[in-house]
Amino acid sequence: MATMYTETVQTVRHWTDTLFSFTATRNPGFRFISGQFTMIGLQVEGRPLLRAYSMCNANHEDQLEFFSIKVPEGPLTSKLQKLAPGDQILVGGKPTGTLIQDNLLPGKTLYMLGTGTGLAPFVSIIKDPDTYERYEHVVLVHGCRAIAELGYGELVVDRLFEDEFFGEMVKDKLLYYPTVTREAFRNTGRITTLLESGKLEGDLQLPRLNRDTDRVMLCGSPGMLEDLNIFLTESGFQEGNHSEPGHFVIEKAFVEK
Ligand code: A2P
Repeated sequence: MATMYTETVQTVRHWTDTLFSFTATRNPGFRFISGQFTMIGLQVEGRPLLRAYSMCNANHEDQLEFFSIKVPEGPLTSKLQKLAPGDQILVGGKPTGTLIQDNLLPGKTLYMLGTGTGLAPFVSIIKDPDTYERYEHVVLVHGCRAIAELGYGELVVDRLFEDEFFGEMVKDKLLYYPTVTREAFRNTGRITTLLESGKLEGDLQLPRLNRDTDRVMLCGSPGMLEDLNIFLTESGFQEGNHSEPGHFVIEKAFVEK
């Protein structure tokens, strides 16, 4: 049987009516590659109720961290959103996922494009020093409906910029581009629209997206993934996977209920 760890919740922070993040203890035996997810959940009526969650902690940190939606009627998230420090959660010991560097060909700029909780896998990736060794620029685009939904990502990025050991390298290479679709903000519009027009690259002072130099990771809603998959394929990008690295990789944002 696969290993299942029992961990203790340490902190919980609510960002909006629909989003929260939390940290928990980490068993030293729990290993993962930045960008991967694992099954986590709770014992409900004597049985494990589990969903896929991406790790938001760095793989060198000794705490686990997760970013989740709250769905009032969702079997797991309706319960998970009530977590408090000291509560126990289950963490599956077999992380997996396609958003890993080995599934991509070498490149100069890494674009991580996420909507909503699709930000989560990119949080462990931007905390990983290896990411900055591989690329000249590391671009994190987070698309949300409202400004308040950007809060968790903004905090993570701010903390990285201020990091004592790591901050200078991050400031040099990480380009963070939050964008909002249903409110006025400094960046607005869907990621698809921003890429089709070239506004994203223009704002970041980068060349137009091209497969010779750029690698792309996608995580978000099925509609966003489908539209970007078509856009990238039409632009000559090939999807990578565990058997053959490519120019882009895809994962859907998991927690829906
Ligand atoms: P929009 O407000 O125009 O629907 P959601 O909360 O529905 O998951 O959406 C998160 C963000 O993803 C929103 O900014 C939403 O924009 C955007 N979005 C939804 N569908 C797509 C799509 N097909 N392509 C790009 N962005 C999308």
